This record gives sequence, C-alpha cells and structure tokens, in this order.
Amino acid sequence: MTEPTIRTKDLTKHFTLNDSFVSRLFGTETKTVRAVDGVSFEIERGESFGLAGESGCGKTTLSKTLLDLYSPTAGDVYFNGQNIAEMSDAEMDSDFRTEAQIVYQNPYDSVNPGYTVRRWVREPLDVHGIGSRDERENEVAETLERVGLKPADAYIDEYSSELSGGERQRVSIARAIVLGPSFLVGDEPVSMLDVSARASILHLLNDLQTDLGLSSLYISHDLSMLKYMCDRIGVMYLGKLVEVGPTEQIINDPKHPYTKALVGSTPIIDPDRERESIDLEGEVPDPVNLPSGCRFAPRCPEAMEECTRAEPPMFDTNDEQVARCILYDD
Ligand SMILES: Nc1ncnc2c1ncn2[C@@H]1O[C@H](COP(=O)(O)OP(=O)(O)OP(=O)(O)O)[C@@H](O)[C@H]1O
Ligand code: SF4
Ligand SMILES: [Mg+2]
Repeated sequence: MTEPTIRTKDLTKHFTLNDSFVSRLFGTETKTVRAVDGVSFEIERGESFGLAGESGCGKTTLSKTLLDLYSPTAGDVYFNGQNIAEMSDAEMDSDFRTEAQIVYQNPYDSVNPGYTVRRWVREPLDVHGIGSRDERENEVAETLERVGLKPADAYIDEYSSELSGGERQRVSIARAIVLGPSFLVGDEPVSMLDVSARASILHLLNDLQTDLGLSSLYISHDLSMLKYMCDRIGVMYLGKLVEVGPTEQIINDPKHPYTKALVGSTPIIDPDRERESIDLEGEVPDPVNLPSGCRFAPRCPEAMEECTRAEPPMFDTNDEQVARCILYDD
C-alpha cells in the first residue's frame, strides 16, 4: 500500500504569551494560544487537499508546523510514512527540505527585493549544491518558462520591483518548484493579487499539480477557490478540524453546522443552488480561553446542553466524510 505523502497525528502547536524573563519577574500571567490543537489528517499521493476556515483558526500555523518551520508542541508529522522528527539531518535535507515547498500569500514580501530573479530562483539549487553552474543556469531558465515567464531572458535579470504582483507570484512558484518537489503548500497563494491575475495563477498551479504529480495543500478563506483546486477539503475551527470530506460533498452536502454556515456565506460557489443559509453570529472565541465541550457551541444554532460537556470526536457522516458534531453520533 502506498503511504500518504503527509500524515499528521494529533499535531499540536501552542504559543506561550508573556513568557519573557521580564514578564516572569513582574509575575505577569502567561497565556497559551492553542493555535493548532490536535489535528490528524492525511494527504494522499497526487491529492490536492484544501484547508478552509475563518481568520485565526490556525491554518497557517498548521501548515508551518507540518513543514517543520515551527516545532510542534505535541504530535507527529509523517512524510511518505517516515516520522520527520526521527529523520537524520541528512534525510531532512535531502528528503524533506527539497521535497516539501511553500508558496506564501504575499508576493511583495516573499521575493527578496535585493536579488535578481536569477539569483532568487537559483538560490535553492546553490544551497543544496545541485548541478554545475551551467546546469543551474539552465534549470532556472527552464523553470521560469515553466511558470509562464517567457522568454526567460526577459525576466531573469529583473528585480522584483520591476515585476507585477502576478509575475512576482510566478517567481515565488518558480523558486518553490526548482528543486522538483513532490509536496507543495499554497497559503492563500492568490488572495493578494488582482482579480485578473488570480485565475491565471490558479490555472498554473493546477497544471503543475498534474504535470509534476504533486501532492498539495491549499489554504484559503475562499471556498470557491478550494472548490476549483482541491479533491478534498478540511474545515478548521479554533485549532481543530471539524469536518473533512470530498470537495463536492463538503460544498453540496456539508454536515457540521459550522461548515453549513461557511458554505452558506459563499454565494459564488453555485448561485443556482438553494442551500441552507445560517448566519455566523458572534465573534470567533479567543484561542486562549476556549469554550468547554464543542468549541463551536457558543455560535451554533443547533447547540444543546450536552454539547458543552465534552469535546465531540469525529463521526462518520457519509462516504469518506467525517464531522466533529454529536448530531452524527448514532
Ligand atoms: N507567532 C505567534 N505567536 C502567538 N500567537 C500566534 C502566532 N502565530 C499565530 N498566532 C495565533 O494563533 C492563532 C492562529 O493563527 P494563524 O495565523 O495560524 O491563523 P490563520 O487561520 O492562518 O488566519 P488567517 O486566515 O488570518 O491567515 C491566532 O489566534 C493567532 O493570533
Ligand atoms: S456538537 Fe453541538 S454545538 Fe457542536 S456543532 Fe454539533 S450541534 Fe453544534
Ligand atoms: Mg493564515
């Protein structure tokens, strides 16, 4: 059986606030932000998985923790079946840091303004000591053309200030794929771009996914983008996955009351389709002071007294669809 590209088991990332020497000296109370609070899921080979949820629910923290850019507070990440915490430095370098790459949200921040396009895209090859100088140069030019910056000569000596937002994001994608990764994370990869650039960048990412056989994780507030890009969607609320399933099922037949509200507030998905509209009332609670029991209970239109007693586990609701809600406990 083929191992999933990514599997997390109870992955947890908490941030401690007021933990400095000065705060301790003055007795300031430390607080724990439970940004990611026990997340288990997998991304199969060649699969595109979408992560949805309101701002602050932990999407970016989850992606950075699974890429080992943050060290987990608890839990494990398995890459092609191997626990990354047990990889040697050499394995981390050759197997994980070359194979797993990320494209960030803001192309204005994520391309170094002091570098030419050539230097920025070539840097990962330099750092990993891949190929001769000529081979690296050829690889950079080919990769630029692969991401639609054609002819490469027209872009290769430019600085990012000379490029549009869409072109910068193509440069970021070129840097992310130049090492030939097998896993790509896109954290809101088009949300800072003009509407006109968005579709062509999504199209490019979709083509790369197929042509390079990538497994991917796309993060977005925008369910219509995830609908276009992803095979399955996971919905996060306050650090936990609350529903996971095939994209069509999550969008056309959501089960968790939070997913229903999220889908109902996204009119562009399919304007002809009647769907239950639930208003998402109230603020997202603070991940420092979580409600007891079901985290969604204070905002849930279907909440009952027993919802506040214990955190619900995931229940099977449909084929391959699970929801963290006691309405599905049979
Ligand atoms: N470095 C940090 N230190 C302390 N708290 C943090 C840190 N990074 C994130 N948080 C907190 O963790 C929670 C999750 O943040 P995160 O950025 O992962 O959410 P998100 O779902 O990506 O939000 P958005 O959609 O706005 O990008 C938030 O409450 C945030 O304030
Ligand atoms: S467990 Fe209760 S409060 Fe939580 S989503 Fe289900 S019905 Fe709503
Ligand atoms: Mg984020």
